[in-house]
Amino acid sequence: MKFFIDTANLAEIKEANDLGILDGVTTNPSLMAKEGITGAQNILDHYVTICNIVDGPVSAEVISTDFEGIVREGEALAALHKNIVVKVPMILEGIKAIKHFSSKGIKTNCTLIFSAGQALIAAKAGATFISPFLGRLDDISSNGLDLIAQIRGIYDNYAFDTEILAASVRHPMHIIHCAELGSDVATCPLKAIKALANHPLTDSGLAKFLADYEKGNS
Ligand code: E4P
Repeated sequence: MKFFIDTANLAEIKEANDLGILDGVTTNPSLMAKEGITGAQNILDHYVTICNIVDGPVSAEVISTDFEGIVREGEALAALHKNIVVKVPMILEGIKAIKHFSSKGIKTNCTLIFSAGQALIAAKAGATFISPFLGRLDDISSNGLDLIAQIRGIYDNYAFDTEILAASVRHPMHIIHCAELGSDVATCPLKAIKALANHPLTDSGLAKFLADYEKGNS
């Protein structure tokens, strides 16, 4: 399973990249705003900075909602760097744009996926990735992981190439369940990635090994 980090924070991106297990980055307008990145040129520059840190797909989201606007914005984003993936909202104008981008070899991430039907038409349009939002479904007492399983089944039935990019991941168990279900990618907060490494028996076992080494060598 590929690990992406879900942030526009450069320190977190560098820290995750330094672990050596990072495959890509996702951002969205809210994550950019959280880092104080505003203004069209600053946002474009920030995408390039991220691309220069991580050698893998970097999702950059359009803010247009009409076909022509999405295409114009997406083509400009794609021209920034070879690793840019144009993030397009799951709306009918977005589906048309994904089809257009697909025919031009521009990679896309169809975002705000909350149902299997949405995942199906995004794959039909040729999306490179689709982003089902697990946490936001859980937040409304629905089951985000059930959606991942449903989409995995549909994509496997027809051998769609579109990759399932589990998004809105909130904690390490989301990542583990996504791996069990065969999600191609999980995009995660740094905290959730780091939490995968934690186990109290590892900590106590290591402390004992080090203490015994000290005893034997003092
Ligand atoms: C990533 O592509 C999504 O934009 C992100 O995971 C949304 O996460 P949130 O529901 O925590 O805002």
